[in-house]
Amino acid sequence: MKDLKILAIISILVIITYIGIEPFAKHEMHGTVPPPDYNYLDLPKKELTGNPEQGKVLFKQNCASCHSVQADGISATMDKQTAQLSFKVVPPDLSNIASIIEPHFFAAFVKDPQSATKFPKFAMPGMSYLTDEQIGHIYSYLKSVAKPQEKLTGKDILHDACTRCHSVKYQKIKAQTDPKYLNDYLGKVPPDLSLMGKAKEEEYLATFISNPQVMLPGTSMPRLGLKQESAEKVIAYLDNIADPHKEERNKLGLWVLGYLVVLAGLTYAWKRKIWSNLH
Ligand code: HEC
Ligand code: HEC
Repeated sequence: MKDLKILAIISILVIITYIGIEPFAKHEMHGTVPPPDYNYLDLPKKELTGNPEQGKVLFKQNCASCHSVQADGISATMDKQTAQLSFKVVPPDLSNIASIIEPHFFAAFVKDPQSATKFPKFAMPGMSYLTDEQIGHIYSYLKSVAKPQEKLTGKDILHDACTRCHSVKYQKIKAQTDPKYLNDYLGKVPPDLSLMGKAKEEEYLATFISNPQVMLPGTSMPRLGLKQESAEKVIAYLDNIADPHKEERNKLGLWVLGYLVVLAGLTYAWKRKIWSNLH
């Protein structure tokens, strides 16, 4: 009976250690990370509605000098080389942007990109002369050509929102902008994202992507206004490419634990058998 008690106590200790040690270690190593802010509450909440046809006209007048919309066969007037010479970063294609970022972020961003992104040197000029109504038209045009959020993968979103600055070497994704221009623009070459999912915790990535200044005050990574779903897909993608076997490993861990429990039970039964013969 005494042996059984000892066995139970050891089992409980093992289980507590197994379940408890990882969160504890994380907490000790990284401290607590504030929750992500996908609501961008510092920007006024707005419903964006409008007419896609009017939006397309306005888009061509105000945006197509720098941005393409490949989904609708619109190419930017400025070619990539000229754009990176002028802005030190290639302006992104906007085919899916309306499904990727929050509408009220978009509204504030178009008027004043520097304050919406919290990056004073953000390269796109603000268009404060556009009315809310006109921005509503442009948004509804972009919405009408965008793939719905459910159809976008983490990789698609990464391509549209991150790869003008970041490379992902192990996936053979090269930043669209030449690093030497990025270095001029941002004061450093943005880090490669191949192993970021392993280097940083998910909680950290969520808070950083939704508001880079909270984690790295003064950083030149802009706030991008991603919807929660977009950010979560990108993070899952980064996690997966950094450590594609993580899930299998976790499953294996449980099997090993089960195996040890069975083994302990058998050893105990065996011991009892030997002792009962001796008595
Ligand atoms: C003179 C060139 C120029 C014009 C005109 C321009 N943009 Fe941009 N835009 C840029 C550049 C450059 C970037 C990328 C800057 C960066 O990432 O640092 C950008 C980025 C963006 C982004 C990405 C923001 C994010 O959160 O990822 C959106 C959305 C956008 N522009 C929308 C528009 C819309 C809508 C218009 C027209 C109303 C417009 N832009 C007009 C140069 C321009
Ligand atoms: C306009 C360029 C630009 C864009 C677009 C951009 N980043 Fe960054 N990113 C940077 C820069 C610059 C840094 C380096 C920040 C620093 O060290 O201050 C950075 C750093 C990072 C880091 C490392 C953070 C750390 O603590 O070291 C991660 C993760 C990251 N970016 C993810 C993303 C993701 C995901 C996207 C797309 C959703 C994205 N970035 C879009 C410029 C950009």
